[in-house]
Amino acid sequence: MAGPGSEQPDAGTSGKGLPSAQRVGVCIAGTGVALPERKVTNDDLAQRVDTSDAWITKRTGIKTRYYIDGDSTVRDLARDALLAALTDAQVEASELDLVILATITPEMACPSTAARVAAEVGANPAGAFDLAAACSGFVYGLNLASSLIESGRYRNIAVIGAETLSNHVNHDDRRTCILFGDAAGAAIVSRSDDPTHGVLHQAMHSAGQLWDALFLPRDLSQLPADLDPNVTTEPGWNGQLDTLQMHGQEVFKFAVIQTCDMIQEALDATGLQPEDLALVIPHQSNQRIMATARDRFGLPKDKLYINIDRFGNTSAASVPLCLHECRRDGRIKAGDLVLFLAIGGGMTWSTSLWRV
Ligand code: COA
Repeated sequence: MAGPGSEQPDAGTSGKGLPSAQRVGVCIAGTGVALPERKVTNDDLAQRVDTSDAWITKRTGIKTRYYIDGDSTVRDLARDALLAALTDAQVEASELDLVILATITPEMACPSTAARVAAEVGANPAGAFDLAAACSGFVYGLNLASSLIESGRYRNIAVIGAETLSNHVNHDDRRTCILFGDAAGAAIVSRSDDPTHGVLHQAMHSAGQLWDALFLPRDLSQLPADLDPNVTTEPGWNGQLDTLQMHGQEVFKFAVIQTCDMIQEALDATGLQPEDLALVIPHQSNQRIMATARDRFGLPKDKLYINIDRFGNTSAASVPLCLHECRRDGRIKAGDLVLFLAIGGGMTWSTSLWRV
């Protein structure tokens, strides 16, 4: 993969940028991940709720996920993933212009978790903010980072996806608790010396009218008006505040349609064929959703990356977890076309098609 650029004039975050005629190349210079130590199997969950390894495996593809323990927080995971990514990229923290942390499980509303992560790795005075687009957050972040670097005003941007959803699921609700896990993944997005590298197509979308398909209410006033808070057996409300509420089947149908539409949109926009893509890296929501999209476009198994069996749905962390594994295992080579896509609460969805 192309390395971070070093020969071009440094416009800096407040500089004038590059002449408009000169296209700025963008690369993913490094990646890193952080996982909690505690691995939770389907059999572990079946000790608490009425479920089984067979049911979870068949309906979701998930076998294990990781849960954060004790005093650790999402900030620890995000910081460790970022440090690993900086090492991989051979970029100093002080060279970062911006830290974008995609998460729906920040430590607090203020300050952003991103600001504290930036400080802890020594990235001050880099800009920092949390990005709330649920499972689409990391792909939104990739699009923002690449566009900012293309502008010529920024050189190195950290994009992190980090979540601790085990703190925000009802562990007595078998409809949701089986799906989610904790993790963080980070990528250093940098200016490249090669102007042919970067994003060929990107999209960010939302449909806020579908908000109650997947939401995390803080108090009862935030429940949909037509919902009886005393009825907790119907999809969309499990009776516990500050935990994810989900209409599983609605989200499933939406995700299947949207995943296929997103791939088609990226192909139409670029004139590419499915076989031109070296790799599709989708958000890991459900193996059946991903397999449907793979079959629809006739993609061979190894061209659509799946690791949900080991990590479950880690929301904004799932795409960077996949990206890191694919780089580590040599599945991505310089010049490859790689399509990232994700769908999440909001509803939100996003694609980012790269020549890496
Ligand atoms: N173990 C055993 N049975 C379970 C279960 C579990 N963990 N969860 C639900 N069931 C039961 C239901 O109670 C229902 O029983 P019933 O027929 O007696 O009423 C039956 O299984 C079927 O439930 P259903 O909700 O139709 O299952 P499903 O095939 O839709 O699978 C999901 C449920 C959650 C796995 C699936 O809907 C899904 O993956 N949705 C998308 C979720 C998602 O991607 N969210 C994040 C988006 S970023």
